Amino acid sequence: MASKRDHILKKLSEIKELPTIPEIVFQIMKLIKDPNASISDITRYIEEDPVITAKVLQVANSPLFRGAQVITSLNYAASRLGLNEIERIVLTLSLIKEIKGMSKRETHIFWRHCVSVALMSDVVNKFSKKPIQNTDPAKDDLFVGGLLHDIGLLVLKHYFTDEYEQVAIVCEASDAGLYETEYDIMGTTHAEIGAHLAKNWALPAAIIAMIEFHHEPDRAPDEYLQLAQIVNVADFICNNQGMGLSGEITAMKKFSESAWWQLGLKIEDVPAMLEEVQKKSEESLLLITIGL
Ligand SMILES: [Fe+2]
Repeated sequence: MASKRDHILKKLSEIKELPTIPEIVFQIMKLIKDPNASISDITRYIEEDPVITAKVLQVANSPLFRGAQVITSLNYAASRLGLNEIERIVLTLSLIKEIKGMSKRETHIFWRHCVSVALMSDVVNKFSKKPIQNTDPAKDDLFVGGLLHDIGLLVLKHYFTDEYEQVAIVCEASDAGLYETEYDIMGTTHAEIGAHLAKNWALPAAIIAMIEFHHEPDRAPDEYLQLAQIVNVADFICNNQGMGLSGEITAMKKFSESAWWQLGLKIEDVPAMLEEVQKKSEESLLLITIGL
């Protein structure tokens, strides 16, 4: 007899209108990793999308980023904010524009959490004993992995509404974790479904691994262990700081203690980390407000 998991995976393979990743995201990811690509190659590409360009300038001119002068071009924005920041803003805004939940409220809650985790991953990485450097391509994968870590949730909630209702009821009544309850009721989890989607999108293996193992980083292959551990800890901090009001959508009751220790995070750094949390919270709210 087919298991519940088989049933869900089969139904998933038959759905025609699953969310897709906008082309600009693939192109930006490619350009970031290309050592021969110049700033103007990247900004020229972004400018081909006038909606995204206008939104990037809106972000750059917000009080969170803006200096004395109004930023009117992407090149100027890149020189003021740094190309890295621009790339991340573009990746975020493009995904938010394309991938939506069932309702506006659900979409807002979902992206607020995911953008927060992507930004928070930076903080966790910075405080870890062997941080991934900005020049390392894994740093860009980390950001996109943070953005997409819970993408399976959106799909499960959208296409498997009845089963998900049951998961929500059990979670509410029993104080059980969402991830564990999904497995008990559906035989699969949003992490597995998200990784399945990411494979279909042909995303890099590092991003697939972060999505698949963000709740159980110890199971990640060695080369992606650090990335999965960072997303796991960032996810937990965001949930506990109410970044994304995730109580109903991504309740995460525990994190991997071995991830915390292996990353070399220290209890005495927590106040400084929380201070950064506040800044990242403002930034994620700004990106969601402008992106949606
Ligand atoms: Fe999750």
